[in-house]
This record gives sequence, structure tokens and C-alpha cells, in this order.
Amino acid sequence: MTEFMLNGTPVSSASPDDTPLLWVLRDELDLKGTKFGCGIAQCGACTVHLDGTPTRACVLPVSAVAGRQVTTIEGLASDAGEALKAAWVSEQVPQCGYCQSGQLMTAAALLEANPSPSDDEIVNAMNGNLCRCMAYGRIKAAVKVAAGRGEGQA
Ligand code: FES
Ligand code: FES
Repeated sequence: MTEFMLNGTPVSSASPDDTPLLWVLRDELDLKGTKFGCGIAQCGACTVHLDGTPTRACVLPVSAVAGRQVTTIEGLASDAGEALKAAWVSEQVPQCGYCQSGQLMTAAALLEANPSPSDDEIVNAMNGNLCRCMAYGRIKAAVKVAAGRGEGQA
């Protein structure tokens, strides 16, 4: 049994200790917003926050989150998160949408740590989140809008 905080609420998981957090979230706790892409920490689709740090849930054993704070896309409610969600809509970022929860969680961690990132800092922070629809330009534009730079589509 692993007990942790999920989106501000205490939860417990009965899954074996080595079960990836991603499957606990999706299959045991029924939060489907966090996606499975590669399963080997290479694409970012499964990104959640662990104590505020973007973390790949596909390779993280559930036992590693005992007593810690996990935030998923369903619980993303920080000021940065809300600004990003609005910018994602105004900039019409998603195409198929599959990568987008991971993109938003990575972007939120960036803006929570650095509210005014440079273009290079945005690119570096988002670099590990892959998008097979090639929405990278719109993702970068939306992060800039959420950061208050208001430049919109490049
Ligand atoms: S599914 Fe976790 S990084 Fe790709
Ligand atoms: S919007 Fe389709 S994979 Fe990114």
C-alpha cells in the first residue's frame, strides 16, 4: 500500500510497489488525462508534477511517491497553469491532443519556477516533450502568451 497526495487529496494505492505511477493514475485511480506514449521516459506524454517538479510517470515506481505530492493535468490549478490553459485555447495549440497534457505540465513547471522565460529557456524546458503533430511553434507561442509577452502566433 502506497499513500500519497494526489491533486491535493490523500489517496492510497494497492498496486505492487514497482508498478509505474502512470498505471496507478490511469487504471487504479481512473485519471486518464496523463498519457502513455513510449513507456521509456523519452517522449514526455506521461509528465506529472512530483513535489512541483516535472516527472515521467511511466518509469516512476509508485512506491517512490509515498508521502509526496503528485499533481496531474486534472489538478493543474496554479496561476501559471490557468494562464497556460487559456493560452492553449487562444493559440489553438492542440492538433490530435495526445501529447498535450504532458506539454502543459512541463510548461507549468517552467512558469512556476521562471515566470518570464526567454525564448531559449522555453525551448530548453520543452525540449523533451515530443509532439508528432509538430505543434512546437504554437506551444512556444502559447507559453509566451501565458508568460505575459502577448505575442501570440509567431
Ligand atoms: S510515456 Fe513516459 S516519457 Fe513517454
Ligand atoms: S498534438 Fe498530436 S502529438 Fe502533439
